[in-house]
Amino acid sequence: MTYGTIATWRMAHEGVIKAQDILKKQGKAGDAVETLINTVEAYPYYKSVGYGGLPNEQGIVEMDAAYMDGDSFAIGAVAGIQNVKHAVSVARSLSDEHFNSFRVGTGATQYAMQNNFEIVNMLTPRAKKIWLNRLAEMREKNLNPYDGHDTVGAITLDKQGSMAAATSTSGLFMKKAGRIGDSPLSGSGFYVDSEIGGAAATGLGEDIMKGCLSYEIVRLMGEGKSPQQACDQAVYPFIEKLKKRYGKAGEFSLVAMNHNGEWGVATNVEFTFSVGNETKAPRILMANPGPDHTTSIAPITQEWLDAYEKRIKTPIN
Ligand code: GLY
Repeated sequence: MTYGTIATWRMAHEGVIKAQDILKKQGKAGDAVETLINTVEAYPYYKSVGYGGLPNEQGIVEMDAAYMDGDSFAIGAVAGIQNVKHAVSVARSLSDEHFNSFRVGTGATQYAMQNNFEIVNMLTPRAKKIWLNRLAEMREKNLNPYDGHDTVGAITLDKQGSMAAATSTSGLFMKKAGRIGDSPLSGSGFYVDSEIGGAAATGLGEDIMKGCLSYEIVRLMGEGKSPQQACDQAVYPFIEKLKKRYGKAGEFSLVAMNHNGEWGVATNVEFTFSVGNETKAPRILMANPGPDHTTSIAPITQEWLDAYEKRIKTPIN
């Protein structure tokens, strides 16, 4: 059987390479997706996931994460968890529980501590400076506090035909304490059924959850649509509906892979992602909304990658 991995944003690429390596060697979809997300969580220059993630308005890093097994539908999730290096691993551990498998706040953090997950202060000096600068800017320029919500969401397919989905995020920068986005919510931030495929989201959680977009994409793939058709048909009409009935739509993007390793994406903003399957090695691509409910996809340029690297490592004063 074939295998494959797709994940949101350029930041997932190194994790996608590791996941594909696991899958190529007959590894399990669950191990591959956890390794992928752990790789992003550990990298301090990514401001919206794990260590180095930006805090809420009180300066506290509150993270959301989820894990889903596409064979059994087992789900584990955490929201508002603090001081835990790998929130997705806690979520995966919770997916073994029939009861109490979605834990929030202190309950989630206590579970992680009791089960010997790595505990660290997730607020890096760099993230703290960005937070302090933003507080000052908001005071001086009366700015909207919210910025940045680049969740890592991923789908993996292994050679045995099993699939898994996972997400991890520190959520909206400057969010209110206790705010939770789409990432830990089944059907909104992620969904996977090994007999069909999976989908995962990034972007403004408050709007993604209005459309249960990950589930909708999987449902459409289950009706026979290709991953790209399912993404286009779930996302673009919903954005129009949201604008008409709610007055606006935040930025969001979704990725999907079916049980044959075929993939698709849809987005209302410039969006990078990483994808690999049995026939093509992992690569970073750029998606943009195209005409008439379509998505245009192009290879990423070296110029873009260089500028990205420079941007994420720019010294903060
Ligand atoms: N999609 C992540 C969030 O809204 O928190």
